[in-house]
Amino acid sequence: MQTAIARALGCDVPIFAFSHCRDVVVEVTRAGGFGVLGASTFAPDQLEQELRWIDDHTEGRPYGVDVLIPANYDRTAEAESHTGDPATLIPQAHLDFMEKILTDAGVAPLPEDERARVHRDIVEGRGNMTPDGARRLLEIALQHPQVKLVVSALGAPPPDVVAMLREKKIMIGALCGKAAHAVKQRTAGVQLIIAQGTEAGGHTGDISTFVLVPQIVDACPGIPVLAAGGITSGRHVAAALALGAQGVWCGTIWLGTRESELTPFEKEVLFATRAEDAVRSRVRTGKPVRMTKSKMSEAWEKPDAPGYLPTPLQGILYNEIHARVVRAQRPELYSFPVGQAVGTMTEETSVREVMLRIQTEYLDTMDRLSSLAGADA
Ligand SMILES: Cc1cc2nc3c(=O)[nH]c(=O)nc-3n(C[C@H](O)[C@H](O)[C@H](O)COP(=O)(O)O)c2cc1C
Repeated sequence: MQTAIARALGCDVPIFAFSHCRDVVVEVTRAGGFGVLGASTFAPDQLEQELRWIDDHTEGRPYGVDVLIPANYDRTAEAESHTGDPATLIPQAHLDFMEKILTDAGVAPLPEDERARVHRDIVEGRGNMTPDGARRLLEIALQHPQVKLVVSALGAPPPDVVAMLREKKIMIGALCGKAAHAVKQRTAGVQLIIAQGTEAGGHTGDISTFVLVPQIVDACPGIPVLAAGGITSGRHVAAALALGAQGVWCGTIWLGTRESELTPFEKEVLFATRAEDAVRSRVRTGKPVRMTKSKMSEAWEKPDAPGYLPTPLQGILYNEIHARVVRAQRPELYSFPVGQAVGTMTEETSVREVMLRIQTEYLDTMDRLSSLAGADA
C-alpha cells in the first residue's frame, strides 16, 4: 500500500488519522500510519503540551497538525480573542434559548469551578477558530520538527501562512468538498488535497466521496489526493486508490477506540447511532457539521430558534452546553461530530485493531480483484 504520498511524508501506509486526541495520533503513527492532531480546540499553551507528549511517544516519526482557517468568520470576535473574552459578544437571546432547552429537560448547571474551567478552555480553544487564532497555533506547531504536514480546513491558507510553512519545508494540505475549491487551494500553494465527501463527520459539503474524489483527482493533476468521508475498511481503501487517491483520511472510526478522548457514556451513544442519524446541523459552530442528531440539534431547526451565530461564537455558546449534557449523561440531547460511518461502529476497538483490520482487508480485496481480472482474461 506504499504510495508516493506515504514515501514523501515518511510513513509506512497512507492511512491518515484525524483526531483531536493525542493518544489516537500517537497509536496510528506508531502503527505505521500518519496521525494528524486537530489543534483548533486547544489554547496555544495546551497545544504545546499535547505536541510535546506526541514527540515523546512517537520515536521520531513524522505526524501532522490540523487548523481551521475559515474564509467567513466574526472579525470582532477575532479581535476580542486577543484581549478579552469573545463569549461576551454572544447575545442574551441565544444564551436564554440554550438555557431553556436544558432547564426544561432538567439538566443541572455545572458546578461553578467546573463551569469556570470549561468556559476558559472553550474560549481559549474555540476562540482560535479564526485566521489569527490559527497563526497562534501554528507558531507552536512549527517549534516541533516532527510536524511534517499542516492541514487547513474551511478556507485557503493565507499567503503569509503558506510562505511560513514552505520556508520550514512543511507540506501544506487542505480539506475540500468541491473540485473548484481544490483548484483554488492549489493556486494558493496547497500541496496535498483531502477530498472530503458529505458523509464525513465534522464540517462537510454536499458531494459524496465516491463522486468527489475522481472529480478532484481530475481537476488537480499532479497533486496528491487523499479520500475522506465514510472510510472504515480495507474495501474502502482499495476503492479510494482505484478512484485515483493516494491514500485515505479517516476521522469517525477513531472515536470508538479505547484511545479516543470520549467518555464511556459518549461511546455508548455513538455505538447506538445509525448512519441516517448522522445529520448536518449548524448548531455546533455556525457552519454545517455532520453530527449525531439530538433534541438539541432539532431545537435549533425550529422557527422560534434564534439565528446561528458566526464562527467562533456559535462554537463557544454550544460547547458549554455540551459539557453539561455530557456530565448529565443525557443521550437524547447529545450531539457530537460523526460521519455516516458511525453506523458501522458497535463496540469499542483499539487503534491497532482498526489499523490491522483495514490493512488485512485491503490485501484480501486486492486478491479478490486480481482473481476477477484473471477470470476475465
Ligand atoms: C469529531 C470530529 C471532529 C472533526 N474536527 C475537524 C477539525 O477540527 N478540522 C478538520 O479539518 N476536520 C475535522 N473533522 C473532519 C475530519 O478531518 C475528516 O475529514 C472526517 O472525519 C473524515 O470522514 P469520516 O468522519 O467519515 O472518517 C472532524 C471529524 C470528526 C469526526
